[in-house]
Amino acid sequence: MKVFLTGAAGFVGYHVAESLLRQGHEVIGFDSLNDYYSVQLKKDRLAQLAPQAGFVFRQGDLSVREDVEAILAEHSDVTHIVHLAAQAGVRYSLADPCAYITANMMGHVVLLEAARHLTALRHIVYASSSSVYGLNETMPFRESDAVDRPGSFYAVTKRAGELTAHAYAHLYGLRQTGLRFFTAYGPWGRPDMAYYKFARAITAGKPLTLYAGEGLARDFTYIDDIVSGVIAALVNEPEKGISRVLNLGSDSPTAVSHLVALLEKELGCKAVIEARRRPLSDVEATWSSHEKMTALTGWRPVVSLEEGVRRFVFWFQAYEAGYGNDDGVSDADCSAG
Ligand SMILES: NC(=O)c1ccc[n+]([C@@H]2O[C@H](COP(=O)([O-])OP(=O)(O)OC[C@H]3O[C@@H](n4cnc5c(N)ncnc54)[C@H](O)[C@@H]3O)[C@@H](O)[C@H]2O)c1
Repeated sequence: MKVFLTGAAGFVGYHVAESLLRQGHEVIGFDSLNDYYSVQLKKDRLAQLAPQAGFVFRQGDLSVREDVEAILAEHSDVTHIVHLAAQAGVRYSLADPCAYITANMMGHVVLLEAARHLTALRHIVYASSSSVYGLNETMPFRESDAVDRPGSFYAVTKRAGELTAHAYAHLYGLRQTGLRFFTAYGPWGRPDMAYYKFARAITAGKPLTLYAGEGLARDFTYIDDIVSGVIAALVNEPEKGISRVLNLGSDSPTAVSHLVALLEKELGCKAVIEARRRPLSDVEATWSSHEKMTALTGWRPVVSLEEGVRRFVFWFQAYEAGYGNDDGVSDADCSAG
């Protein structure tokens, strides 16, 4: 496969690139390297990919037509697209909703406009999100559920992406699969996400914010399971003109307080917990049914939360010690907690 991969410097994109390259595929990576979180971390991920045979990278903005057309003119023989670039993060979408419209809606349309002229293109897999289930309360979340009650602007743009994909499949025959990721975590992860923030706070002996409520739970999905799901979906092409959506989650919802306990164990420090009210943008719980994904592709998650947290902490301690960070965490004495 020759894969055009948007968001290649991002958490999921980096891991998908690693896996595709290991399997001998070509990857044309594209990313704006925006500063929503550490640009250094994005560069460090790219530095792992750069020396590998079959990898090409171009910095550019997906919402800018010329940027996308230029790279695809050079690589007009791409056979597959994995579209992961986005303005991510639920809570930040209250602070800057327009950033989400630009990257996630405009960016998606610009990509599809270019994609529909690629004659060798077989299949587009793009990132949607468990956030589209919004205020739904019936668990587990299934693809057949109504998804018209978003709880954040982020969710609005992810649902809009699914609808956009449907129209492009109908109008131009593009084969597309939207994957609704459920809380991906792991090495090289995102510092804006709770598990990463918790790890930093615990290590530094600083308080971490835990939203009150027994029911606060997430279907945490280890990054290797996310990546194997992306690739399993990519090689499993729907019929021409079909746009489908599939959940990609572990089907194992876990209390967020249990995640904190696992991090405490692996980091060897006690957390200082400050309970606060859950913001309206954060849903109480997520739980994925992956029946449809398994039936279509045979995919199943294999990494337990205990094992995934262990692998994350192993990487986290090495990475943060090597680079330090703005919080001075690498210098912290964890017994302070
Ligand atoms: N990580 C999760 O738990 C999770 C859950 C649900 C959905 N998702 C979705 O999965 C995808 C990957 O998420 P991630 O965790 O790797 O996020 P990430 O922020 O690490 O990666 C996204 C990348 O997209 C790039 N980008 C943003 N706007 C761009 C633009 N206009 N042009 C080009 N590049 C741009 C960013 O620089 C970043 O490197 C996203 O679409 C996200 O919404 C992630």
